[in-house]
Amino acid sequence: MVNKTVAVLLSEDHKQQEVHIKGWVRTFRANRFIALNDGSTINNIQCVVDFENTDENILKRITTGAAVAITGDLVESQGKGQKVEIAVTNIEILGDSDPETYPIQPKKHTFEFLRENAHLRTRTNTFSAVMRLRSALSFAIHKYFNDNGFYYMHTPIITGSDAEGAGEMFRVSALDPKNPPLTEDGDVNYKEDFFGKETNLTVSGQLEAETYAMSLGKVYTFGPTFRAENSNTSRHLAEFWMIEPEVAFMDLAGNMDLAEDFMKSVITYVLENCQDDLQFLDDRLFNEEKTKPQAERSDMRLIEKLKFVTENNFKRVSYTEAIDILRNSKPNKKKKFKYIIEEWGADLQSEHERFLVEKHFKCPVILFDYPANIKAFYMRLNEDGKTVRAMDILFPGIGEIVGGSQREERLDVLKEKMAALDIPEEELWWYLDLRKYGTAVHSGFGLGFERLVMFASGMTNIRDVIPYPRTPQNAEF
Ligand code: 4AD
Repeated sequence: MVNKTVAVLLSEDHKQQEVHIKGWVRTFRANRFIALNDGSTINNIQCVVDFENTDENILKRITTGAAVAITGDLVESQGKGQKVEIAVTNIEILGDSDPETYPIQPKKHTFEFLRENAHLRTRTNTFSAVMRLRSALSFAIHKYFNDNGFYYMHTPIITGSDAEGAGEMFRVSALDPKNPPLTEDGDVNYKEDFFGKETNLTVSGQLEAETYAMSLGKVYTFGPTFRAENSNTSRHLAEFWMIEPEVAFMDLAGNMDLAEDFMKSVITYVLENCQDDLQFLDDRLFNEEKTKPQAERSDMRLIEKLKFVTENNFKRVSYTEAIDILRNSKPNKKKKFKYIIEEWGADLQSEHERFLVEKHFKCPVILFDYPANIKAFYMRLNEDGKTVRAMDILFPGIGEIVGGSQREERLDVLKEKMAALDIPEEELWWYLDLRKYGTAVHSGFGLGFERLVMFASGMTNIRDVIPYPRTPQNAEF
């Protein structure tokens, strides 16, 4: 007798062997046909019960959601829709599931309902496919970096510097909130807190990754990051995972090449290794889109869109060119944008990013050389004195998916910038040290992992691509 997953059994060519399988009942029809799933694949295996010779009490307990152990013979299927099935010789109920109260019925549930039942939503086809895809993407990311000579670095989650300015932070404190120690001025005295200073959850591992790039050469972090912005959108989480490579001796052009090659490689990996799940998600999205007005539907199906990204070059466009395109665009002239682009220097909103990607270029776009004053202090100043070597990658349907830059490696320029922004040098003394001792050109970027999972799965709400989303007013599970 063999113990194999459903995924393996469905791919078997030798039949007539006795098999043993455990899983959850998806449906039980005609007192005879169990559709069994064990999470290893989107596909169920059909288990045919000899109901005439099975105890009535057992048959009653084969309900949707029940966990069962089945022994039987793997045989060629009599019915349509599957090549093999299991002719059951013994069935054991491992865990009952009351059909009156089990939330995941064999019918279509809304994503809102499934978010409220996020602990059970991976029992559905859509969510099991999305989460298997998430796992595969994560593996593909580690594989890419490992294959290309990068070291995986674990950057701290609790941080004492809040200088990055990537977003609002969550405070980490062990003080009694009802009765905190106070300074003479009446402020909370964090010197008496656990770390002897104010600490927060990190918004990014970049600054620490830079220290390792300047010794190990090529590194990346892949960890959770936290932002306490109150942006309740379908693309923002308060806790999300970010991949941040950082490379010594690499300039912005090299950074763009790396980001493009990396994105193409991980998408190719899932195209090659997640075919069943992607086909399911492709059909799901196609059916969902059919309910939308024609103008809002995407021109391409999911798999087509993924292949398009892997097979075409990303369009590289400077911020200045992008502003010209936007200023002269129809929605700008007709005042259809919420934020009208009037002059050079304007920050781009997601409506502008999506116009560039979806309407104008119709392919992934890398925007570079942004105005210095709308970007972070650490980005390298260009010779023009007003733009920095920043790059954002914009993807169709998602908008910004990657943000990165060549870093300012000149000590004097960096110090000037920090002074102008009131960033105390004491706080980042170690960051400045990198520019004092063996400084060199270096660059990196951050990819929002959930935005990548959204793109690869065709899911349109970021809450549906992470197991337990953290968003304003929501930290259930
Ligand atoms: O552009 P961001 O803020 O860049 C950084 O944090 C840099 N330190 C990265 C680096 O150069 N090493 O964030 C990078 C990416 C964004 O492009 C987006 O995909 C994602 O992180 N992101 C979010 N994803 C989900 N929810 C949020 N609230 C996000 N904020 C940013």
